[in-house]
Amino acid sequence: MKITSAELREKYLKFFEKKGHKIIPSASLVPENDPTVLFTTAGMQPLVPYLLGQKHPDGTRLTSCQKCIRTGDIDDVGDDTHCTYFEMLGNWSLGDYGKKEAIEFSFEFLMKELGVPLERFAVTCFEGDADAPRDTEAAEIWQNLGIKKERIAFLPKEDNWWGPAGKTGPCGPDSEMFYWKNNSEPAPEVFDPKNKNWVEIWNDVFMIYVKNEESKIVDAVQKNIDTGMGLERAVAVLNGKDNVYDTDIFEEIFKKIPAELEQKQKRIIADHSRAINALIADGVEPSNKERGYVLRRLMRRIIAYEFLSKKEFLKDLIVSAVFAEERSKFLKTLENGIAEYNKLEDIDAEKAFYLYQSFGLPFDILKELNPEKTKNLGREEFEELLKRHQELSRTASAGMFKGGLADAGEQATKYHTATHLLLAALRKILGPEVYQRGSNITAERMRFDFNWSEKLSTAQIHDAENFVNDIINIDLPVSFEEMSLDQAKEIGAMGVFEDKYGERVKVYTIADGDNIISREICGGPHVEHTGVLGHFKIQKEESSSAGVRRIKAILE
Ligand code: SER
Repeated sequence: MKITSAELREKYLKFFEKKGHKIIPSASLVPENDPTVLFTTAGMQPLVPYLLGQKHPDGTRLTSCQKCIRTGDIDDVGDDTHCTYFEMLGNWSLGDYGKKEAIEFSFEFLMKELGVPLERFAVTCFEGDADAPRDTEAAEIWQNLGIKKERIAFLPKEDNWWGPAGKTGPCGPDSEMFYWKNNSEPAPEVFDPKNKNWVEIWNDVFMIYVKNEESKIVDAVQKNIDTGMGLERAVAVLNGKDNVYDTDIFEEIFKKIPAELEQKQKRIIADHSRAINALIADGVEPSNKERGYVLRRLMRRIIAYEFLSKKEFLKDLIVSAVFAEERSKFLKTLENGIAEYNKLEDIDAEKAFYLYQSFGLPFDILKELNPEKTKNLGREEFEELLKRHQELSRTASAGMFKGGLADAGEQATKYHTATHLLLAALRKILGPEVYQRGSNITAERMRFDFNWSEKLSTAQIHDAENFVNDIINIDLPVSFEEMSLDQAKEIGAMGVFEDKYGERVKVYTIADGDNIISREICGGPHVEHTGVLGHFKIQKEESSSAGVRRIKAILE
C-alpha cells in the first residue's frame, strides 16, 4: 500500500490547514438544514447556509472529511467504483479565494503531496451554454500550471456542472481531475474522457451561481469554491488498484465475509454493511418511508444474501440491536417467501414480481435459489414489471385485482384508501369496537357505514377529519402483502364482516414506521402514498339502519 485511507485523510486536511483552512468535523448523514434531500450526499451540503452568505463561525476557509450516502446508483454497487456510503474530502472558500487559488491548491496537493505523475493527469472544464460561458479561464489556469492543451477537455453541463444538491441553492461550472489508472499502458497524449482508464478523483466547483425557486440560474451574491474528492476512489487509484474494494478501507470487512460467496455479493455486503452502520450511528431506524425505507432496503438485501449462504456472519459486521431485530423479522418473511417459492413452478417475471411484492424476495435471490426453476426469468422483464407497477397501482384496472372495484379510476382508488383511513380514525376516536358495515364508492364521493348507535358530535366529526388529513399530510406509504387468511387474522388485519374471503388474501397496511395506522384485508386497489389524496371532508353523518351510522365524505 503506497498510501492508506487514514494517511490520505490526514494529508489532505493538514495541507488545507496549512493553507489557512479550519478543519471542521463531518456532519450527520441526516441533513439538518435541507428538507429537499434525504441524506447528506456531498461535503458542501451541510454548508449550504454558509455558501448562501451566512457567516460560518470558523471563518471563510474550511476543510472536512464528510461521510456521505448516495442511493442513486444503488443498483451499480458491486461494480468497481460505486458505493452507497463513502467519505468525501473537501475544501471550501466562502467568498474568500476564487478559481485560480482553488485550482492551484488542487494541483499542488496532487503533484507535491501525493506525487501524481503529470503524464497520468488530465482535466475537464465546462464548455458553456445559455446559463454560463465556456470556462476558458479555468483552462488557462491549468495550462499555466503545465497541463498540455491536449489533456484538457471541454464538456457540457451533464459532466461539468455541479449542484444544487437539492432543488434550489448554490451551483456552478466545475473542473474535474482525472488519473490514468492503467499500469500496463501509458496514458495517451490526447485525453479522451470516455476512455475508462481515466478515473475522476477530484472536482473543483466554482459556485458563482444560485438556482432560485423559479429554477433560474442567477448570479450568486457570494462567490464560493466547493471541492470534493471521493476518499475510497482516490485511495484505490493512488495505490494502483482498479476498484475501491481492494483498499485498506475494506480489508477488515472482507475478513468477516465468507470467502466462498460470489464477488459481487461480497462487495454489496461490504458496502451496505458500512452504510447500515453509519446510518444507525446517525439515528436512522428501518421503516417504510424515506430514510428508514432506504435503510430497510439495504438491510434486507444483505440479510437475504446471508440467508442464502446458510452461514451467519452479519452479526460480526453490524453489531446493533436495531439490525438484529430487523434481521429476525425479515428472516421470517423470507421463510414464508421461500415456502411460497417452493410451491411455484417455472418462475417467470410475473411470479417473481409477486414473490418480491408480497414477500420481499429479491430478484437475485430467486435466480440463485434454483437456476433451473428460474430459467425463464429475465431481469429486464422483471424490472419492466417493477417500473410499470407504480403506474398500474395508480390507474389500477379492475381486472388486475381480485377484489376489484366498480369504478377503478384514479379518483375511486383515492376514495378506497380514504375509506381505510376513515375506519382507522373512527376506531381511534370511538373505540376498537367499531367495524365497517359497508361502503360505496364513486368517482365523486365515498359512503361509509359502521356500527354505532348515536349521532356523532361535531367535535367527533372534526377529530375524524383531522385524523385522516394528518395521515394524508405526513404522506405515508400504502403497502400490501399477500398471505393466508389465518396469517392475516394473526397479524390483526381487519376484515369486512359480510365479505367472503378465499384462502389467500391481500392485506393492505398504512404505517408510520412501526406504528400501524390501518391494516385491512382488501382486494385493492389503493394509492401508493396517502399524500396524493388531497383534503378529506365529511359532508354528512346520519343513521343508516338500527345500530348503523353512515358517513358521506369527499376528497377536495
Ligand atoms: N459538490 C461537489 C461534488 O459532490 C464537489 O464537492 O462532486
